[in-house]
Amino acid sequence: MKKVMVVGAGIMGSGIAQVCIEHGLETILTDVSEEVAEKGKEKIYHFLQRKIEKGRMTQEERDQAVVLLKSSGDYQDGIDADIVIEAATENVGIKLQIFKKLDEIVKENTILASNTSTISITKIAGATKHPDRVIGAHFFVPPPAMKLLEVTPGLLTSEETIKATFAFAKLIGKEAIQAPDTSGFLVNRILVPMQNEAIFMVQEGSRPEDVDRAMKLGANLPMGPLELTDYAGLDTVLAVMTQMYTDLGDPKYRPCPLLRKMVDAHLLGRKTGRGFYSY
Ligand SMILES: NC(=O)c1ccc[n+]([C@@H]2O[C@H](COP(=O)([O-])OP(=O)(O)OC[C@H]3O[C@@H](n4cnc5c(N)ncnc54)[C@H](O)[C@@H]3O)[C@@H](O)[C@H]2O)c1
Repeated sequence: MKKVMVVGAGIMGSGIAQVCIEHGLETILTDVSEEVAEKGKEKIYHFLQRKIEKGRMTQEERDQAVVLLKSSGDYQDGIDADIVIEAATENVGIKLQIFKKLDEIVKENTILASNTSTISITKIAGATKHPDRVIGAHFFVPPPAMKLLEVTPGLLTSEETIKATFAFAKLIGKEAIQAPDTSGFLVNRILVPMQNEAIFMVQEGSRPEDVDRAMKLGANLPMGPLELTDYAGLDTVLAVMTQMYTDLGDPKYRPCPLLRKMVDAHLLGRKTGRGFYSY
């Protein structure tokens, strides 16, 4: 694999594109417009600069990486990609539309991977005429730092696609683990209900800083569940909980009302400057 197209230049898409260029892969970062894609590219430049300042990257390595990166508002620019990683907004309608379009334009053996947190890969694959080449490739936030890639085959994903996705993970320095095509896959099925429960604690009167400190000191977590929610985006966490609740039908997955209220108030975490904390 030499060329990657990343669809969606938000928190995840820009992080995934950064990982790809740092591992020598030509990468096209796309979004709804050239302007939005360009913003994702600027975010990558910013993070690479910070790596240089921290002594984790040389100027030469940075220059070698950035020449591999292009931003675009048009998927057509990535039709010859070997793998497409879709990291657009967590919304079924948006994802089905993207996969239908990608399936029509990319070359025959291109792998179509989704970074969805909860949406069924089999359902996404159903929007295409080639479900054998559709797979889940779920990165974690922030993609450059987190080692895991959850690989989720849909019902009709081919062995060849699974093997190639595991090989891709190795190529970009990630450790792949196969996860079932069930809502939340593996990590989010366990992690996001914990974040939701932490929000219930705040709704019941606990202070966010106490909840986070307690979980860091008592459960040895590197980051508190509310800090993580701010980092991931409250809208995305709500979308994940809502999808799990819908798919699994168990009331234990009901999103906390405070989470919904904060999303309605546009308190989405780091990306809007305020969530459980201010930035
Ligand atoms: N935030 C996390 O912690 C996290 C972790 C793992 C996976 N994910 C998943 O990654 C995906 C993206 O999440 P995010 O946190 O980066 O969201 P985000 O809101 O930061 O970015 C989403 C981007 O998708 C773009 N987009 C929307 N519709 C599009 C379309 N039709 N074509 C191209 N781009 C489009 C938006 O303009 C935006 O730039 C979601 O599926 C989410 O569930 C998120």
